[in-house]
Amino acid sequence: MNSNAALSTGEILDLDEHLVHSFADLNALKQKDARTVIARAAGPYVFDADGRRYIDGIGGLWCVNVGHGRREIIDAIAAQLHDLDYYSTFYNLTHPLAAELSAKIAGLTPDQLNHVYFGNSGSVANDTAVRILHHYFNRRGQKSKKRILSRIGAYHGSTHMAIAMTTPAYREGWDSADSLVEFLSSPYPYRRPDNMTREQFCDFLIEEMVARIEAVGAENIAGFIAEPIMGAGGVIVPPAGYHRRAFEVCQRYEIMTISDEVVTAFGRLGQMFASQKVFGIEPDIICTAKGLTSGYQPMSATIISDQIFEVISEPGARFLHGMTYSGHPACCAAALANIAILENENICEHVQQLGPKFESTLMRLEQLDIVGEVRGSHFMMGIEFVSDKSTRQAFPEDANIGGRIASEAQSRGLIVRPLGSMAVLSPCLILDQGHIDDIVDILEQSISAVMSEL
Ligand SMILES: Cc1ncc(COP(=O)(O)O)c(C=O)c1O
Repeated sequence: MNSNAALSTGEILDLDEHLVHSFADLNALKQKDARTVIARAAGPYVFDADGRRYIDGIGGLWCVNVGHGRREIIDAIAAQLHDLDYYSTFYNLTHPLAAELSAKIAGLTPDQLNHVYFGNSGSVANDTAVRILHHYFNRRGQKSKKRILSRIGAYHGSTHMAIAMTTPAYREGWDSADSLVEFLSSPYPYRRPDNMTREQFCDFLIEEMVARIEAVGAENIAGFIAEPIMGAGGVIVPPAGYHRRAFEVCQRYEIMTISDEVVTAFGRLGQMFASQKVFGIEPDIICTAKGLTSGYQPMSATIISDQIFEVISEPGARFLHGMTYSGHPACCAAALANIAILENENICEHVQQLGPKFESTLMRLEQLDIVGEVRGSHFMMGIEFVSDKSTRQAFPEDANIGGRIASEAQSRGLIVRPLGSMAVLSPCLILDQGHIDDIVDILEQSISAVMSEL
C-alpha cells in the first residue's frame, strides 16, 4: 500500500516543503497552492491527490510513451528484482538483461551505431557523449579537438556539461563550462529574419555554421550536438534539409555529430529513432533516455559508432567512465518490456497515422487572436502565443501567458507545459482521436479565457 495513501493533500504539501523542485521558482513554491500533487496515473491520465483527473498532455515529462500503469513493465521490473536486484557492469561484469538490451538497441539504431553505454538520465547520456568524443580524439592525437557546437534554444540537460551545451537562457545566474561550447543560431523558422524565405534561412544557418567552424578551427571542434526537433527550446522544427546539410558540413570538417534523441526516440515522431528515418542523417552518437523505459525507470543510453568504439577499445586504451547504476537490471527490464509494447502494439504506426491528425486538429487554434503559430510534428507539438499576430510581437515575460494558459487548462482537466509564451504538448502515444479532440477543446477554452482578461 502507498505509504502516502492516508495523507491529505495539505499534509503532503507540508512534507513537500523539504523537496527541492527542478527548474522552479523556489520562492513562489513556498505558497502551497502553487504546487500540484499527482498521486496516481492510468493510461493517458493522471489524478491529483484529491482524485481529480487530468489528461497528461506532457506524458510525464515527454517520457511516458506507452501510457501510465502498464502491468507488463511493472511486472517485468518486479520479476527482475526477484532474480537479480542489482549487479554492476563495471570491469568484466555483465548480466543477462544489460546484454540483451544493448543488443536490442543496436538492432534499432542506424547500421553503424552498435555500442551502448547506459546511464540514468538524458543529461548523463549527453555528458557521456562529450567525454567519449574527447577521449576518442585524444587517442587519435587530435588533442585540441574539444569544443562542441550547439544551438541557441537547445536543451541538453542539467549536469555541468549538458547545461553548458544548453541555451544560455536556461542558466542565467549559474555557472557552466562555457569555454567548451560554441553557439550557433536557432533554426527557428517562425522567428527568422523578415526578408528571408525558409530556404534562404536554411542557407543562412548552414553558412553561419561553416563560418564559425572556419573561425574557431575544425582542429578545435570535437562535435556538433543537436536535437532533431528542439523540445524545451520551443518545439522548433528546423527548415527542410537543415539536419542533412549540417551533417554533411560536419563530415567535411571531421566534426562528430551527436543526435540528442532524448525526446524524439521511441515513437514520439513515429519512428524508434528519428535521426535517419525522419531527418536522413547517420550520426556518430545518438543519446536517448525518456521513452527508452517510458519513464518507468530512470535510464539513458549513449549509442556510439563502430568507428568510435574501435578507437576507444584498441590495445592500450582504457574506458575510464562509469556509474554504479549503469545498466541497472531493473532499468533494463523496464526498457525491454517497454520496447516490446511499442513493437507488439505497433505504436510507431499508430503515431504515424494519428500524428498528422493531432497536428491538423491543433491547427484550429491558429484562428485565435493570440495564437501566433502551432508547430511541431506528430506527438511533439507547441503553441506560441503573441500579442500581435501580424508583427509576431511577443508577450512580455511578466505577462506569464504560457503559465496562465497552462493553469486554465489544468482547471479544465488538461496538463500542458508552459514554456515562456508557449504551451507545449508531448502526450502519451496511445491517445485516440477522442483524447485529441478533448485536448484541443480544453486549450481553445483556456486560451479564450486568458484572452478575455488581456
Ligand atoms: C532533448 C533533451 N536532452 C536531454 C535532456 C535531459 O534529460 P534528463 O532530464 O533525463 O537529464 C532533456 C530533458 O528534457 C531533453 O529534452
